[in-house]
Amino acid sequence: MPNNVHTHTFDAVIVGAGGAGLMAALYASRKINVAVISKLYPTRSHTGAALGGIGAALGNVEEDRWEWHAYDTVKGSDYLADQDAVDVLCKEAVETVIELEHMGLPFDRTPEGKIAQRRFGGHTNPETKKPVQRACHAADRTGHMILQTLYQQCIRNKVNFFDEYHVVDLIRVDNTIRGVVAVSLATGEFHVFHSKAVMFATGGWGKCWEVTSNAHSLTGDGAAVCLRRGIPMEDMEFFQFHPTGIFRLGILITEGVRGEGGVLINGKGERFMERYAPTIKDLASRDVTSRSIYLEIMAGRGVNGRNYVHLDVRPETVNRYFEEAGDSRRITAQFIEEKLAETVDQCRTYLGIDPVTEPIPIQPTAHYAMGGIPTDVDGRAVVDAQNTVLPGLYAAGECACVSVHGANRLGTNSLVDLVVFGRRAGNHMAGYCPGAELLPLPDNPAGEVMAELERIRNNSGGTRPYVLRDRMQKTMMANVGVFRTEEILNEALETLRELRAQYANVSVDDKGQRFNTDLLEAWELGCLLELAEVTAVAAQARTESRGGHARDDYPERNDEQWLKHSLCFKEGDGYRLDYKPVVLGRYEPQKRVY
Ligand code: FUM
Repeated sequence: MPNNVHTHTFDAVIVGAGGAGLMAALYASRKINVAVISKLYPTRSHTGAALGGIGAALGNVEEDRWEWHAYDTVKGSDYLADQDAVDVLCKEAVETVIELEHMGLPFDRTPEGKIAQRRFGGHTNPETKKPVQRACHAADRTGHMILQTLYQQCIRNKVNFFDEYHVVDLIRVDNTIRGVVAVSLATGEFHVFHSKAVMFATGGWGKCWEVTSNAHSLTGDGAAVCLRRGIPMEDMEFFQFHPTGIFRLGILITEGVRGEGGVLINGKGERFMERYAPTIKDLASRDVTSRSIYLEIMAGRGVNGRNYVHLDVRPETVNRYFEEAGDSRRITAQFIEEKLAETVDQCRTYLGIDPVTEPIPIQPTAHYAMGGIPTDVDGRAVVDAQNTVLPGLYAAGECACVSVHGANRLGTNSLVDLVVFGRRAGNHMAGYCPGAELLPLPDNPAGEVMAELERIRNNSGGTRPYVLRDRMQKTMMANVGVFRTEEILNEALETLRELRAQYANVSVDDKGQRFNTDLLEAWELGCLLELAEVTAVAAQARTESRGGHARDDYPERNDEQWLKHSLCFKEGDGYRLDYKPVVLGRYEPQKRVY
């Protein structure tokens, strides 16, 4: 091995320090020697951007049951979620939220001192069909609080953290996992982490799109590294657009705003969701709401004829609608300042407006990958249509596809997914590692990715990464966004293949070693380009509309042909699709009505 490569040995390494990575680390570190490797400082992870709440049928405010949560999740998924995994998610949500409370998470409280819960899109009482208060929250900073709480617990548990180490390769030899390769941001040196188990918890790839709620760091590294090492990507055609991103910037305005009574208003002053979801209106599932916003804009009913609508949470508006609906709730300016503190801050900072007195201009924003690394309910990666486990490889959180979100995730279920399946993966690794052998590293395990990074560093006068990134993001937004057709998907694929060819010639200005973010961002662009192409390939093949995948040329859901998960494999220079059945259960696929 070259002598500037450092080697570390652990039972398990966890890549990513968001909610899933930290929860797994906490559990695994009670029994085995674990390292968490993160390209960020852990509390800067993107879990902090999940705002409005974590769903759990605690029933603190009104009657609720985990089976209702499961029903809503399956219906929200447009029946593509695996129902065995959904049962695990919704049942374990209850005990996991209480566990977080006991770890010290500062949830908001009801007057009786219980965890406060609010309404969220698609969460209902299936008997009354009305929205149910299920989202446990800490103001509108819930993800941030989860992150802080879990990080503190990991520190207390003496978890080993490698902050600002960027994982760039997975060491796989045939069907065994031997560790990962990382670059230290501070020094540019390569580090090999030799382990019996590897878990990816690296989040999503929203940066494939131009308007996104995702931070700069959401570049799909973990998923792309797995794809390159022969792991298929499941259900990549399903990418969620959250209805309420700040116009043009994409920054998330939480669904909690609508949970507390906020309404969507078009350029004609109409509460248009009454047309599209007459029963639960502004609290329809995200796919339905995002499409409705686009339909209003396309019909010329955007505000001032532009590509946005308003989210109105002004007390006079909300209280008027409450009164009309015979709802006894009322909100005040103080309520908004306290319960939606982050939203108020964001509007004042990024828009220069006050949501207490002005409506918020919003548009759908690329938010969440429903697909990713296929896993079982213990976070173990599975690598084919028969669900064959690859021993030692795990994934959880947004980069994984277990699949509990199917074709469309319900709000609050990302946070549940992180903690429930993070915990299960951590527990499983703790059981697996003591009996597993630490297999030897291959010769020069970092060699291949070192050569790739050196190639990018040493290219001169080639294509600039930002030029390719900009074209990819615009193409994905226009052609692989909320509405799709064969024609525009074909165009997207042509462009993405062209960009991939140009990427071979990409060059950077910074040729140095230390803090070379120029180089690592160029490497991240390679991940994004691959995941964008996989998304377009899977979307082109699926000739139906389901959840977050709306085909204008195939507007109906087609269960006969398409009630199945896609698996996309990288093969040579191209991609191959395969399919596997959906695990059904109590809920027979039905037409969704909100
Ligand atoms: O709207 C929100 O607060 C986002 C939460 C989520 O994506 O689950």
